[in-house]
Amino acid sequence: MTTPAATPATGFEVHGARGPFNAAFFAVMGPYIEWNLRRRKRRVFADLPGTVVELGSGVGANLRYLPRGSTLVAIEPNTPMHPRLRAAADRHGVHLDLREHVAERTDLPDSSVDCVISSLVLCTVTDPAEVLAEVRRILRPGGTYRFVEHVAARAGTPTRALQRALRRPWAWTFEGCSCERDLAGALRAAGFARLDVEPYRLHTPFIPFNTQIAGIAHA
Ligand SMILES: C[S@@+](CC[C@H](N)C(=O)[O-])C[C@H]1O[C@@H](n2cnc3c(N)ncnc32)[C@H](O)[C@@H]1O
Repeated sequence: MTTPAATPATGFEVHGARGPFNAAFFAVMGPYIEWNLRRRKRRVFADLPGTVVELGSGVGANLRYLPRGSTLVAIEPNTPMHPRLRAAADRHGVHLDLREHVAERTDLPDSSVDCVISSLVLCTVTDPAEVLAEVRRILRPGGTYRFVEHVAARAGTPTRALQRALRRPWAWTFEGCSCERDLAGALRAAGFARLDVEPYRLHTPFIPFNTQIAGIAHA
């Protein structure tokens, strides 16, 4: 058994085996996940500004939505993701400012950011409410948080039952990922000035992952 190693600066536990497994998983499965999410991502990640803060960039799935020559401030505490993320930023011609912080504490100044993005991250962070408060803190008035996330299915549905049944092996495999979070509720409770949330359903074999939301929150 490999022991998780906590990065002292962030408290994030990098797992000796699952960290590299997840980096490889998202590199290999990236094109398939992207194919499923592309319609929503094209909508919410349209016309990104020249500097974007991304929570949990992983191996760089969203670099394709940034114009060449722009800057990505990547908040990614999981060091096994870093080599692939750096290589992907080079390939896309994006300047990478990689920060080994957690999304709960980005260390960015108050009201300093025009745009924050995330995909498939609020499911995995320790505390989504704390992350959303941090997003509000760093966004300038009028700035946007654009997200594509997977969420809990409606109570009483077969998908919801499967999300419950698989919660432990799923979280173990995907480093703490939960398919049972009401993230639309968390976004509504976060106090953004305006919120546009689209719920939708995918039809992948990864059934617990199929209930999703995408949207834009305005600071
Ligand atoms: C499912 S992956 C998604 C990666 C990428 N956004 C994508 O769409 O392919 C979740 C990502 O969130 C990162 N993550 C987990 N906890 C985090 C936290 N507290 N703060 C920031 N990132 C975190 C993980 O390291 C991982 O890269």
